[in-house]
Amino acid sequence: MKIRVLGAAAGGGFPQWNCNCRNCAGVRAGTVRARARTQSSIAVRGRDAAGWALVNVSPDITAQLQANPAFQPGRSLRDCSITGIVLVDGQVDHTTGLYMLRESTRPWPIWCTDSTYADLTRGNPILNVLGHFCGVDRRRIDLEGNTFEIEGVSGVQWRALPVPGKPAPYSPNRESPVPGDNLALVITDKETGRTAVYAPGLGAMDDRVWRQMQSAACVMVDGTFWTDDEMIRLGASKKHARDIGHLPQSGAGGMLEWLDELPAGTRKVLIHVNNTNPILDQDSEQAAEVARRGVEVAWDGMEIEL
Ligand code: MLT
Ligand code: MN
Ligand code: ZN
Repeated sequence: MKIRVLGAAAGGGFPQWNCNCRNCAGVRAGTVRARARTQSSIAVRGRDAAGWALVNVSPDITAQLQANPAFQPGRSLRDCSITGIVLVDGQVDHTTGLYMLRESTRPWPIWCTDSTYADLTRGNPILNVLGHFCGVDRRRIDLEGNTFEIEGVSGVQWRALPVPGKPAPYSPNRESPVPGDNLALVITDKETGRTAVYAPGLGAMDDRVWRQMQSAACVMVDGTFWTDDEMIRLGASKKHARDIGHLPQSGAGGMLEWLDELPAGTRKVLIHVNNTNPILDQDSEQAAEVARRGVEVAWDGMEIEL
């Protein structure tokens, strides 16, 4: 099984088009040593090199596909090696790229929970819009943790766990989140039994997810914010990280403390990194601390083989 990071940044990307925070201004000017990153998405393949699942569809999807020739196997006039799509929530950064995939020659198999399906047919009815183009072959993700497989992605088994978080502002559940608004995915190579846990939005550590993380070969978890009040201190928002469904890395009970407790040998990767996060600056003390604790920061094009 291979996981390719298509976009390692949170909503807005890095640099964000209208942002002049230290990181965004610095990377634009070349005064901060950091890689630009597109918005949040990974792709997963099993035995078949031409069978990928796309997990989340970022508004940057066309650039992400172009950056990797493996997605264009060239077998027919219209072709692509993505055989199915999985959504962990209905947020803008994870779904609006679907508009860019409307030229598909067959309805897209899209795996999502009922609450995400409601977000994407009511609050932000993107799946209805796709119905006027390629169409959608919706596959239901249940909340009981049953496994599922994606046609074309051979030898890979999937399981979804609801996690604490927040649905998008246009969600019918925005003020009263329900299980299924946000998911962690447990992705298993059926041959080796090795698993990856992917949770780009994790508002708080959750028992079931924690148990899965402890037996995973690799965890790819919420790397959005360094501090809980990052956006408030910057004057960019009135909300804390935890209020919008993202557990910060630093401080008591933060993500780094949790990651410290994982068995030695677990590969630990922070993903869905907001442009304001100091870990993006390769020369920052926070980046050094993350590295010292054996944690990697995902970048576009990073590949993980399990
Ligand atoms: C989030 O993860 O909190 C959202 O995706 C932010 C956004 O895209 O606006
Ligand atoms: Mn997001
Ligand atoms: Zn910024």
